[in-house]
Amino acid sequence: MTTTQFAPDPRALCEIAVRVAAEAGEPAAEGQEGITVLHTKSSPTDVVTEMDRATEELIRSRLLAERPGDAFLGEESGDEDGTSRVRWIVDPIDGTVNYLYGSPDWGVAIAAEVDGQVVAAAVNLPRRGEMYRAVLGQGAFLGQERVTAPETVPLDRALVATGFGYFAERRVRQAQVLLDVIPRVRDIRRTGSAAVDLCALAVGRYNAYYERGLHSWDWSAPGLIASEAGLRVGGLRGGPPSNDMVIAARPELYEQIDRMLQDLGADSDG
Ligand code: IPD
Ligand code: CA
Repeated sequence: MTTTQFAPDPRALCEIAVRVAAEAGEPAAEGQEGITVLHTKSSPTDVVTEMDRATEELIRSRLLAERPGDAFLGEESGDEDGTSRVRWIVDPIDGTVNYLYGSPDWGVAIAAEVDGQVVAAAVNLPRRGEMYRAVLGQGAFLGQERVTAPETVPLDRALVATGFGYFAERRVRQAQVLLDVIPRVRDIRRTGSAAVDLCALAVGRYNAYYERGLHSWDWSAPGLIASEAGLRVGGLRGGPPSNDMVIAARPELYEQIDRMLQDLGADSDG
């Protein structure tokens, strides 16, 4: 990567992300009926369908045809180096288990990083008819409408979304943490897609979200949409989002959730 190259306009990257996410969402939605498991990944419940693969390949080919030289990271195909300052981070179908079960709660997520910072994002929820997008510093949009997350609420009034990993040991620990979280909040939701959760948070359908064990393809695109809607998106102890923990909420609530999760040792599997 040469940093003397001009940085591309994030708005142009966002337009590409929206266009490609829209194109990829159509065959994915059409192919949902009758879909079966192709194989499993990290655990027997971590499934891949033919459409995860085909959707990622469509996205990859469109992005790299339009911008040859960009790097690419996809959930299904892994890392591919580039020569430009841009890297695309793609989750072709976030919420694969929902997809397999015929639920509409899954999405196509495409983020563009410039010099390692996410600057543009699109999340298409085809079965919900919702296209979210964001450009760093320029707000988040659902369709043509700018979205702003509602003001904060106290922890005991917060509707909190979360998720569980694919490893049995981690899931047990996540359930134990939840036992201590649930009496302190309004209620808990588990949608089955981090992309859906973070976009739903951006438009006020929840007050907060946290999850351990996500990967950058899970949080990059919807994380920018959430932060551009006014939410703080990070990890434990106010750090950046990571595989250890992703937290998203209005800043005051974020701090309460961060403290609570630290106290509960929520970033350990033991
Ligand atoms: C998963 C979903 C789920 C979350 C898991 C993710 P996938 O992604 O976002 O909500 O709980 O941690 O791995 O496997 O459906 O792309
Ligand atoms: Ca995912």
